[in-house]
Amino acid sequence: MQLDPSTAAVPDVYQYLVGLVTPRPIAWVTTVSPAGVVNLAPFSFFNAFGANPPVVVFSPTLRRDGTKKDTLLNLEKSGEFVIHAATAPLAEKVNLSSKEIPSDESEVALTGLTTVPSVKVKPPRIAEASVAMECVVRQIVPCGTGPIAANLVIGEVVMMHIADEVLDGNGGVDPRKLKTVARLGGAFWCHTSDLFELKRP
Ligand SMILES: Cc1cc2nc3c(=O)[nH]c(=O)nc-3n(C[C@H](O)[C@H](O)[C@H](O)COP(=O)(O)O)c2cc1C
Repeated sequence: MQLDPSTAAVPDVYQYLVGLVTPRPIAWVTTVSPAGVVNLAPFSFFNAFGANPPVVVFSPTLRRDGTKKDTLLNLEKSGEFVIHAATAPLAEKVNLSSKEIPSDESEVALTGLTTVPSVKVKPPRIAEASVAMECVVRQIVPCGTGPIAANLVIGEVVMMHIADEVLDGNGGVDPRKLKTVARLGGAFWCHTSDLFELKRP
């Protein structure tokens, strides 16, 4: 089959796109509202794009009614966020934190998680997460104005937190200990337990 996004319905384009670009890592993001409410939400339009300085990008799209999600609104005002790795032991809570709740309520309370203060940014990090990256916004690039339109949040990582329990013997991150989960199309997720190694040519 073929699909031309210029003539197809937006929800169909979305479903095919997330089915084709897989697996997607999940940024589990804390931000703070102007009133001080800690927001927590997952975003699988996410990746890292360079290391000098370390740069990450994720996209809180516009809602289906065309409004901005709380994470984007908070970032436009505060410019700071923390990205946590989504891992197998926390997968249910990652999913629960995607629930649409009023902006004056926190997904941290909803999920029963706890926070600890960050070192360089105002949003706290999730204490239960094995990995957290404190970030400052470099640029927000909107692409489109309608439902599910992208908003590329380009962030610079200014501090990394890595739990000793997920390190290998040489100080690196051991993927068998970190147990990252990722997002596929539909309601499918995947584990990262089926590993193989290739040496670079
Ligand atoms: C695993 C997962 C990945 C998601 N990825 C995205 C994404 O990349 N972009 C997006 O806008 N919404 C994504 N969502 C939906 C948001 O998490 C959801 O709209 C959330 O309520 C947004 O929260 P906020 O309004 O507090 O920012 C995802 C949900 C789940 C469960």
